[in-house]
Amino acid sequence: MDSNNFKIINVSSTSLSIEIVDPTQFDDQFNLGSYIKIPYKNNDTKFVVGIIENYRIKDEDNGDDETDSTPPSFVLEVKLTGTIDTEGGAPIFERGGHGIPLPPNNGIALLTEEELNGIFTTKMSENERFYFSELTTKEIRIPVNGNKFFNKHFAIVGSTGSGKSHTVAKVIQEAVSQKNGQYDGLNNSHIVIFDIHGEYEQAFPDAQILNASNLSLPYWMLNGDELEQLFLDTGDRNNYNQSSVLRKIITENKKKHNSGIDKIHFDSPLKFDITEVYNCLYNVQTESINSKASNRYMVVGECEGYNAGDSTTIESGLELTQEARILKYFESKLEFYPNKNQSVANGVYADGTLDKFVERLENKLQNLRLEFLFGNQSRDISFEDTVKQFIGFRDDNKANVTIINLGGIPFEVLSITVSLISRILFDFGFFFNKTLQQGEKTKTPILLLYEEAHIYVPKSDLLKYKASKLAIERIAKEGRKYGVTLGIVSQRPSEISETIFSQCNNFIAMRLTNPEDQNYVKRLLPDTLGNLTETLPTLQSGEALLIGESIVLPSLVKIERCDPEPKSSDIEYFEIWKEQWKNVNFENILNEWKN
Ligand SMILES: Nc1ncnc2c1ncn2[C@@H]1O[C@H](COP(=O)(O)OP(=O)(O)O)[C@@H](O)[C@H]1O
Ligand SMILES: [Mg+2]
Repeated sequence: MDSNNFKIINVSSTSLSIEIVDPTQFDDQFNLGSYIKIPYKNNDTKFVVGIIENYRIKDEDNGDDETDSTPPSFVLEVKLTGTIDTEGGAPIFERGGHGIPLPPNNGIALLTEEELNGIFTTKMSENERFYFSELTTKEIRIPVNGNKFFNKHFAIVGSTGSGKSHTVAKVIQEAVSQKNGQYDGLNNSHIVIFDIHGEYEQAFPDAQILNASNLSLPYWMLNGDELEQLFLDTGDRNNYNQSSVLRKIITENKKKHNSGIDKIHFDSPLKFDITEVYNCLYNVQTESINSKASNRYMVVGECEGYNAGDSTTIESGLELTQEARILKYFESKLEFYPNKNQSVANGVYADGTLDKFVERLENKLQNLRLEFLFGNQSRDISFEDTVKQFIGFRDDNKANVTIINLGGIPFEVLSITVSLISRILFDFGFFFNKTLQQGEKTKTPILLLYEEAHIYVPKSDLLKYKASKLAIERIAKEGRKYGVTLGIVSQRPSEISETIFSQCNNFIAMRLTNPEDQNYVKRLLPDTLGNLTETLPTLQSGEALLIGESIVLPSLVKIERCDPEPKSSDIEYFEIWKEQWKNVNFENILNEWKN
């Protein structure tokens, strides 16, 4: 098309309005998101580059019936993004720093494919390029800088059905398939996916799958807050007393099992035995003492000369120092003589302070669904074996991708499970880093990917989210230094902790229909994007706005299809309803339920 057909009608420091004089000549493919170039005056190798953000129709009909109305012409609103210089052959792109010299020159044209490719690969060496999408306006694959994409946290946001899960699958499938040479076997990528809907197993046939039945998490690595969150009832007015008893007993049990270590406190990540702690709590709750000597404990079978009918003997009862008492109480659940006799008095906690608490703990320990957290394996597992299961070394099988299927994990421990795993991996990175020589970098960088992240890191300050929020926010703030980065996936970005989002450097923003979420995402994105963000509600499935440090220019892209695909959680209601009536095997369902 003749470039004289373009007429610049308005210029500002960041944008340009271009009228298309005769639309009938308009045969080139222009689209929202297309890139155009405007030459500098008297310079045929340097161009200002802009992106079409908007177009409107300029109707020149003056409303007078007498005159013939001319066909409407179009005005393109172009956001200026940078300049390219093609002098040395390959185009070099520079962000910003434009400014259209006056009077504006004509010769406007769409960027050629080569120029576009040149722009997107500017300052990105070949081995850093990582591909998973192409421009929506042209069939050009868009490279992102793989290092900058993975070492600075990224977020994938979009309403349900916008294509987030497929995007996750595509990005990770690409990451695990890249190799820097000809070698057999796996590359060195380590990716952990927190999969709440069980959809990723299908997309990663070689992944290691962890779930409530084969996962072992050391409960002894829970920190003080988490232990309290698990065992104490926040609504109980005795909460404070319960907390101090719990702290004391766990600390003592840690001392018992870690005799060589000097300073041990409640939060120390040291082994302890939860069954012993339970025994002790039970005993403290039910104990009775000699009414005349409070250091004598009325343990059935241990009270010499004691006779329930006899109200006198002060010797009766097992004499124990406080220390010996706790150690004895760890051993088993004891039976105490009841306070039906003058010589037997109630223990301190006979008033019911600990009742709900002990019951809660007992329920947790007996719950088969919590076996992964409180079973014997969880007591005995080492830090090393714990980490190994998450970064692909479980049972000496190797895997790049570890999927933690959170589906079978009871809701009450979900936040804690996620926080514990996150913290263990952060600590792994942290201590790994300490073993390195100066200037050396980690050899095992890890990506942690959270599906439905608003569940673990919401804006809410409620206690039940505290654990996972703290752990993930810490990774957001410090993880990069130690080779632990985050991928945050969410359909409700406006509900996610701002700390997390403000630390993300790369965004894949997919269709967003909720205005609150749209506004939130617009606020997070750089201003220069202007109206591009207006397209968020109208994007098709798999289309996205790709923004961030890893990409030369913010771009509207179509994510390439992943293969194999994640499992869809959509149930085809109508298809299933049209089938003949099916009977239900209630027995199987009930068995599942009861376990
Ligand atoms: N890149 C893509 N191109 C075309 N269609 C896609 C693409 N990604 C996803 N879709 C389609 O969009 C639908 C929703 O995808 P999904 O990844 O489950 O979305 P979300 O995780 O955001 O709910 C799926 O039916 C899928 O086939
Ligand atoms: Mg999804």
